Amino acid sequence: MKIAIASDHAGFELKKELINYIKSLNHQILDFGTYSNESVDYPDFAFPAAESVAALVADYGILICGTGIGMSIVANKVQGIRAALCVDEDYAKLARNHNNANVLCLGARKTAPELAKKIIDVFLEEDFEGDRHMIRVEKIHNLTRL
Ligand code: RB5
Repeated sequence: MKIAIASDHAGFELKKELINYIKSLNHQILDFGTYSNESVDYPDFAFPAAESVAALVADYGILICGTGIGMSIVANKVQGIRAALCVDEDYAKLARNHNNANVLCLGARKTAPELAKKIIDVFLEEDFEGDRHMIRVEKIHNLTRL
């Protein structure tokens, strides 16, 4: 799979570690930055990465900031994006099964690297269940067309 990844300064160290991990799983990485610990504004990195997922250039996005909150707020402004801030494996499973999330948001100041890797494993492995959840996801997208 092709994974778009981005972080701000708070997520930079975790992003580096997760890029190596995701590559070791034989997935391709599209790295939208940031590329150092220098302070930056998370919308500048979240938005283009999320757009690449919405445009189907990438299969999934992984966005990392201090809490994951800013990244999820930004990503969900892109039409076609369903970004979920996940704090454990069960959140990741349900975000895929029920919400068909296509962007995973992580908080580098809240989630340890080993747990972040487990969350990613689940997020990339789980599928959308469809059925009643499909109706709900369609309703979300109808809202953005108003
Ligand atoms: C940066 O200090 C921090 O505000 C940012 O990484 C993120 O947590 C915002 O939601």
